[in-house]
Amino acid sequence: MGPVVAVVGGGQLARMLAAPAAALTINLRALVEAGDGAAGQVIPDAPVGAANDAAALNQLVAGADVLTFEHEHVPGELLAALEADGVAVRPGRTALANAQDKVHMRRTLTNAGVPCPQWAQVRSVGELADFGDRAGWPIVLKKPVGGYDGKGVRVINSAAEGGDWLTDGQVALAEEKVDFAAELAVLLARRPSGQITTWAPVQTTQVDGVCSEVVAPAPDLPEDLAAQAVQIAERIAGAIQVTGILAVEMFHTTDGRVLVNELAMRPHNSGHFSIEATTTSQFEQHLRAVLDLPLGAVDQQAPWAVMVNVLGSARTDPTTAYPQVMAAYPEAKVHLYGKEVRPGRKLGHVTLTGTDLGELRRRARAAADLLEGQGP
Ligand SMILES: Nc1ncnc2c1ncn2[C@@H]1O[C@H](COP(=O)(O)OP(=O)(O)OP(=O)(O)O)[C@@H](O)[C@H]1O
Ligand SMILES: [Mg+2]
Repeated sequence: MGPVVAVVGGGQLARMLAAPAAALTINLRALVEAGDGAAGQVIPDAPVGAANDAAALNQLVAGADVLTFEHEHVPGELLAALEADGVAVRPGRTALANAQDKVHMRRTLTNAGVPCPQWAQVRSVGELADFGDRAGWPIVLKKPVGGYDGKGVRVINSAAEGGDWLTDGQVALAEEKVDFAAELAVLLARRPSGQITTWAPVQTTQVDGVCSEVVAPAPDLPEDLAAQAVQIAERIAGAIQVTGILAVEMFHTTDGRVLVNELAMRPHNSGHFSIEATTTSQFEQHLRAVLDLPLGAVDQQAPWAVMVNVLGSARTDPTTAYPQVMAAYPEAKVHLYGKEVRPGRKLGHVTLTGTDLGELRRRARAAADLLEGQGP
């Protein structure tokens, strides 16, 4: 009974699809890197295989209603072959290309009239120097492909500093270093039939390039800019015909503009708060969207939601902090992903909802600290 959703990837995002899938009798099948990983632990139908293995992908989609992803690492040629075979690939290959290659993304967004930081594709130290002189040093240099959690992103003060990313014909994306008041994300879901629901913009805080805290809705965002941010995200969704969740990372600049940083086409760290805080979570909505089912309401139940990531832990098993954290913070919703502890690794998150934003932030941070093995 129920539709079959095939998902590529075995991390926490696939794992968090499992709860709403169970509630809705949607059969989740995940192609995982390891059977005992975050998703493999909770999804019984979890074949082990690589995201770039054509045979593994063909087996994954056999009998499935739709193919979707928790990461962007399936090669475009394999997606094209699956689409040619009539597989419902959601998001589709051409949309997903914008999450796979940041230069391609910048080109698409610029062509669609979406406000971005100044940018250029650079192929040599000379081109990098020209861009930096135009945009003003320091600038941000990015690897177009394969970056995550700030890996593949550097601030550089001179062209020579970026030379090591331009050897052997490599290209890079150079960007103006944006002076931002805050980072934002706008999440939406879009069905193949075109229906879109959009969450209110949230504020994200990155530490060393990794998301540390999310506040929903974005606290210091003027109403007109919030409306603009939503409009931008919806324009992008239509322009690239995305299906499923689209997360648009943005900058709220100190001079009062909204610029797009990058796109993700899957459930996103900035949307984890929605599990407890909004009527429909991003994970349920992603399943509904890729199955082309009517989308759920996304209104927020409490005035504020705060999500804090658990990044690394001094405990080898962070669940051993449960007695302490559950006693001290009974209102906290704790999520741990079953991942082996490594320094700085995303192991879980904590969400609090309520009315006193300062108190929510303090208590969410303190609960995460306990899971990280800090504090008493
Ligand atoms: N042009 C820019 N100006 C200023 N800061 C930037 C710029 N681009 C990126 N950053 C900072 O670096 C962080 C990581 O950049 P980006 O989101 O492009 O990388 P990523 O590693 O792909 O991230 P993710 O983990 O979201 O996939 C951003 O959240 C932001 O804090
Ligand atoms: Mg990012």
